Amino acid sequence: MKTNSSSPVFPLMLSVLILCFVSPCLCKKEKVFTNHTNIYDVMQHGARGDGKSDDTNAFLKAWSSTCGAGGILATLVIPKNKSFLVNNLVLTGGCKATSIHIKLDGKIVAPAKGALKDKSYWIRIQYINHLTIDGGIGGSIEGYGSTWWQCKTCSRPTALFFHSSNDLTVRNLRITNTPGAHIAINGCIGATFSQILVNSPGNSPNTDGFDISYSKNITVVDSTIATGDDCIAVNGGSSYIYATRVACGPGHGISIGSLGKGNSFEVVEEVHVRNCNFTGSTNGARIKTFPGGSGYARKITFEQIQLKDVKNAIIIDQNYGAKMANNKMSKVHI
Ligand SMILES: *[C@@H]1O[C@H](CO)[C@@H](O)[C@H](O)[C@H]1NC(C)=O
Ligand SMILES: *[C@@H]1O[C@H](CO)[C@@H](O)[C@H](O)[C@H]1NC(C)=O
Ligand SMILES: *[C@@H]1O[C@H](CO)[C@@H](O)[C@H](O)[C@H]1NC(C)=O
Ligand SMILES: *[C@@H]1O[C@H](CO)[C@@H](O)[C@H](O)[C@H]1NC(C)=O
Repeated sequence: MKTNSSSPVFPLMLSVLILCFVSPCLCKKEKVFTNHTNIYDVMQHGARGDGKSDDTNAFLKAWSSTCGAGGILATLVIPKNKSFLVNNLVLTGGCKATSIHIKLDGKIVAPAKGALKDKSYWIRIQYINHLTIDGGIGGSIEGYGSTWWQCKTCSRPTALFFHSSNDLTVRNLRITNTPGAHIAINGCIGATFSQILVNSPGNSPNTDGFDISYSKNITVVDSTIATGDDCIAVNGGSSYIYATRVACGPGHGISIGSLGKGNSFEVVEEVHVRNCNFTGSTNGARIKTFPGGSGYARKITFEQIQLKDVKNAIIIDQNYGAKMANNKMSKVHI
């Protein structure tokens, strides 16, 4: 539920489109540049892939080549049957190629708790537009979270953090046992997550499946989320958020908020949850707002929902986080 706020970056694809209409030769020329040489394998940049050596620098070298490559498509390859340990990995755009692919066929694993240098994040992907991450058949991310979960009050890093990246596609990815949230999306416009398998134990603390904030047009589809916190949390500044054919449980359900923490003004609108199953989760549809906060949550729909062994099918809590009823009811309108 922890997120960094920032304003999203808007892509200026329109000018590219206009360019193509005005001058078709330009687009053709661009096509000539397309070749299969813009493929950068982390193994060729010094990665060991033994799950023990720190491969962060190899990833950064391969990323630097990928991001610096021109043309229409540049691809970073993380090969299969290998396990790559990375420590505070940051992949930053803007890249030269129109689209970037990350072919994640192998496994990425976390360092031990004590070895993570900056405990506020693990993998960060930022300012990259038109990015596709495809886990192929074996792509996975393992967070080795159990040592972190023992301390429930300690701050624990989000595993995969997307920030200010527009037109994002993530598919066929397994992400398991993360110390904090599995996937956070902040300041992004246009993202589709499909065939994502999130799996952490029901008693792992603050391990939200998806944590969405200050983002627009985000879809989670055909995915399975088993976790110890919200399957999907839609936080302040988010709109046009879609969850379709998601199986949630264990977990705390699909939640709007919590909104209005620390007397803040927060807004969420156009959230549409459809054709989802909740099995063994504490909640199904949930909206939670803090006392003292303001703003609104509106145009929220849940439809074609199946609930099995769910404690609260629908729960709207406007006094969230308050131990006892107090006089400072939330002013967040629902
Ligand atoms: C395509 O291949 C050439 C020759 O290997 C290389 O110089 C170039 O960077 C590659 N990519 C593009 C976009 O031209
Ligand atoms: C990957 O491992 C599997 C099972 O161990 C094996 O069948 C397969 O041939 C390996 N693939 C490669 C490319 O090494
Ligand atoms: C929403 O994002 C998707 C990509 O995830 C894109 O195809 C679609 O056009 C976007 N819709 C709007 C209204 O921007
Ligand atoms: C939900 O459960 C039904 C059976 O009750 C099943 O047919 C459907 O595929 C499930 N949907 C998801 C998204 O798991």
